[in-house]
Amino acid sequence: MSLTEIDTNFTLPAQFYTSKDIFEEELEKIFYSKWIYVACEADLPKPGDYITLKLGTRSFFLQRGQNGEVRGFYNVCRHRGHELLSGERGNRKGISCPYHNWTYDLSGKLLRARGMDADFPKQDYGLNPINVAVIGGLIYVCLNSPAPDDIETVSNLLSPYLAPYQVAKTKIACQKDIIEACNWKLVIENNRECLHCDTNHPELLVPLYSSGFGKGLDKDHIAPSEQRFQDTLQEKEREWEGLGLPYELIEFPDDLWFRTVRLPLANQCLSHTLKPEHACKKLLGNFRKPEGSGLSLWTHPNSWNHFLSDHIITFAVFPLSVDKTLVRTKWLVAADAAEGVDYNLEDLTKVWTQTNLQDQSLAEGTYRGICSGGYLPGPIADEEYLVKQFLSWYTDQLTETPVH
Ligand code: FES
Ligand SMILES: [Fe+2]
Repeated sequence: MSLTEIDTNFTLPAQFYTSKDIFEEELEKIFYSKWIYVACEADLPKPGDYITLKLGTRSFFLQRGQNGEVRGFYNVCRHRGHELLSGERGNRKGISCPYHNWTYDLSGKLLRARGMDADFPKQDYGLNPINVAVIGGLIYVCLNSPAPDDIETVSNLLSPYLAPYQVAKTKIACQKDIIEACNWKLVIENNRECLHCDTNHPELLVPLYSSGFGKGLDKDHIAPSEQRFQDTLQEKEREWEGLGLPYELIEFPDDLWFRTVRLPLANQCLSHTLKPEHACKKLLGNFRKPEGSGLSLWTHPNSWNHFLSDHIITFAVFPLSVDKTLVRTKWLVAADAAEGVDYNLEDLTKVWTQTNLQDQSLAEGTYRGICSGGYLPGPIADEEYLVKQFLSWYTDQLTETPVH
């Protein structure tokens, strides 16, 4: 079946979730060629801090330079190709290759080339850079060059929404990795709707109205079940005006790859917690008192994020193979918050730890069904319109003529 025959009112034909060839094509056309969310500034608090990452088969690292700038390079030495940095994270004042000790500075410049003549042109053998963009403390990379030039527009639209949280002044309180036995698109499709929330996420629905989360925000056609949410929303919008917090929905404008909106929390909750209390006593950025809303941000192809006045939860999806997907969740709190004093890890992480496990079970169960031999593409409900939106974005990316 060709891409043009796909009806994005239905889920994709089975081979799109199971074919290794299609997976390779996705890596090339999407994960190597588009802007991908991979980490946040709290991963690299000090100059010299680095993290190593992998997208598909490509290995790279991000490192904070002496001037504070975050840079990215392929994790390979320019001499005979040894990997430069091992382990998940660390700090280095410079980068020395373990093989023959070629040494690079934090800007990727080759400083020492052991074994080479004095006139060896070191300037031609700097590290192989990747494209890095930091938007409001969130780090996006694009491995291929040239990177899509829409990043500036995304940054301009998004930065005012993220600014109040001062993500750069947070620290990672907790990171949890889950490897899900399913194709990465099922993780994203599941994330783009909340039709499944009522029946699967008892903890998440304590602080959250499912409205607005996956459902639309159509203020002209309010279903009776939505009335309470809409009333709260109107009330909160007046409050947000007063606090100078941006809240208007931005939903994948002009083929851009993000959706953001501020939503009121349910049940008098002040955070994504099970009790109507905030999870961390030290509030983020501009907040002077806990505020009962969450700013949510979803990006294609691989992330979702929730910003509360006391903490942030950020999720990045890394496809490992056609049937294995890494979902990385980080909980961020104010950099000066102390565990056991300002926050308790169990309370902070409870809602999303449970929700992630429930979502893992749903995505893996769907994958098993798709592999059953009896699967046929199924209809997507109106309420799941963001799944359709994702699938039509996805098919557009695969249809586009490769740039590289
Ligand atoms: S391979 Fe890195 S110094 Fe030789
Ligand atoms: Fe879910």
